[in-house]
Amino acid sequence: MPNVTFLPAGITAKGRIGQSLISVARAARIVIPQRCGGHASCQMCRVYLEEGSVSAPTALERRKMREADLQAGLRLACQVRLTALDCTIRLPESKLKSVVQAALARQKEEQSDETWKGWNG
Ligand code: FES
Repeated sequence: MPNVTFLPAGITAKGRIGQSLISVARAARIVIPQRCGGHASCQMCRVYLEEGSVSAPTALERRKMREADLQAGLRLACQVRLTALDCTIRLPESKLKSVVQAALARQKEEQSDETWKGWNG
């Protein structure tokens, strides 16, 4: 039974050979966004293969994605099937989450600047 490690959460789950990556993620309570029910049309389930081995890109993936993205390890989790080998998968950071984190960091920085000015007159 191959192990799948999901980053950035760092959660490792066991899967079965031939099982879809998205179903392994679901069983491990890792949320991979999707809207098309696994038909390779929404492309919301994009993930990066960081290490290890999974099935070769399907015809649907080859039709929907750029070859350069596939070469870079970008895959559709609904199309990827596990092989006998372990793998490490990275979920792309949500754009909304990164915008909110940047705004919070900026706000924190501004507050610490104001506090510093308050102490120094
Ligand atoms: S779930 Fe829609 S492309 Fe994978």
